[in-house]
Amino acid sequence: MSTVEYSSYMQTNPSFVVLAVDDDPQILLLLQTVLGSVDAKVVPVSDPGKAMEALRQHRPAAVLLDYFMPGMNGMEVLDQVVEFDPGVDVIFLTSHYSPQAAVEAIRRGAADYLTKPIDINMLLDKIGQLVSVWKHRHFTSALDRQLLEAFQFEGLVGRSPAMLEVFARIRRIAPHFRNILVTGATGTGKELVAKALHRLSPVAQRRFATCNCGAIVESLIESELFGYVRGAFTGAAQDKVGLFEYADGGVLFLDEIGEMPLATQTKLLRVLQQQEIQRVGSPVTRKVDVRVIAATHRDLLEMVREKRFREDLFYRLSMIDIQIPSLGDRKEDLPLLMRHFLERFARQYGKPLRGLSRRAQIAMLKCSWPGNVRELENCLGHACMMADGEFVDLKDLPERMRTAHATPAENEGELVSLDEAQRRYVEKVLKTVGGNKVRAAEILKISRATLYRMIASTNGNDSKHPRDTTGIEENGTENPALHSGEWSGSSLL
Ligand SMILES: Nc1ncnc2c1ncn2[C@@H]1O[C@H](COP(=O)(O)OP(=O)(O)OP(=O)(O)O)[C@@H](O)[C@H]1O
Ligand SMILES: [Mg+2]
Repeated sequence: MSTVEYSSYMQTNPSFVVLAVDDDPQILLLLQTVLGSVDAKVVPVSDPGKAMEALRQHRPAAVLLDYFMPGMNGMEVLDQVVEFDPGVDVIFLTSHYSPQAAVEAIRRGAADYLTKPIDINMLLDKIGQLVSVWKHRHFTSALDRQLLEAFQFEGLVGRSPAMLEVFARIRRIAPHFRNILVTGATGTGKELVAKALHRLSPVAQRRFATCNCGAIVESLIESELFGYVRGAFTGAAQDKVGLFEYADGGVLFLDEIGEMPLATQTKLLRVLQQQEIQRVGSPVTRKVDVRVIAATHRDLLEMVREKRFREDLFYRLSMIDIQIPSLGDRKEDLPLLMRHFLERFARQYGKPLRGLSRRAQIAMLKCSWPGNVRELENCLGHACMMADGEFVDLKDLPERMRTAHATPAENEGELVSLDEAQRRYVEKVLKTVGGNKVRAAEILKISRATLYRMIASTNGNDSKHPRDTTGIEENGTENPALHSGEWSGSSLL
């Protein structure tokens, strides 16, 4: 966006609205006075019971929330806000800090947890960041679309170095290949790669035929591939063309080649060598000109060692290969794929979906995706169908994803650093003794001063920000979009 476009946008578009909910009128006045300096317009609400009404009326981008208020506490307001619009950034401002409450607030969808007396500079810094992310998001939606397009290759989405290498190989190989092996775990996109190879090959206008070797019973696979003549076996009432003849001049995709019976492997090898087939029951050979793409999620070399796959066929097929990495090994593709599927399902279901809530993002980024892209696609398909607002929230995800989003203390099997384990244990003890620090220090056999230091270190006063406890920084890499509260584009790209 040019400077002119940017400034005209600034003039014509609404400002960043913050709903401030606090029963103390002085705090509300203070917030109204100071937040204007970072371009934020404050809507004050002194009665928490009226917070939702104000939320519906003003549609704020952020909510500043007191914890203890008469009639309704901040946590209840948080739940209502997140339920109504999971994209809103909720920041607690409280004079009663407890690590348990901070963790619980973040777990329920709060963006931050700050203590009173308000550190004005820190608050301005935080709100200033939200304002700039918010502006950035509004200005760059066109750019986002371009980025998504830039990282799409023949229906395959990815920007990790490993996937860019796959795209480059497809481009180089497609014009020339005769036989090729595509490997990758289930759901990584082997069939998409095969179709891309066909589309970019010189025979793109010819047929693309598929044989799923794992889905055809052993006795039928040869007649499926090579065809048969009338009377070849009981029930063969007339001649039938096999897939090799059907795909003549084009491409035959042999999916799940690892499941092909050994006897058929022998015949396939002959076809690849001689470029001719024999229909079952016929002595006549017929010339065919077929490019073969074989795919498997199995370790064919291991199968060769176990004598379950023919070595000569393996080498014939794998002279040129494309290996697709698992999604867990290229997590940098996740945001792009999430946006890709979100847009697709939003279109498909006719819903005005704009992004994912912070909690939903965290749950999805934490998942290891054993079913790879297919699992991610199914998960988002489910979530988009369930979502009823503009954002997909945690509650919309399939059950198993929601439970994977348990608090760190619940994730017993998770391996963490010694520091993190210590921090979690201190939290657990504090929780068990109802926040009684004297008792907690006794149990931990540390001085109260040490305990206070540990608590302070989780209080955003240093690098151990409370938000860290949610495990957002998966793989040690911080995702800037997670600080934006919602996710609707370039912030994640
Ligand atoms: N990089 C990608 N970009 C976009 N969509 C993808 C990508 N990879 C896979 N998909 C989608 O994920 C689903 C699974 O892909 P595909 O069927 O090609 O996987 P596969 O490796 O053949 O799986 P299987 O081994 O289970 O047969 C498809 O709906 C496909 O469109
Ligand atoms: Mg497949």
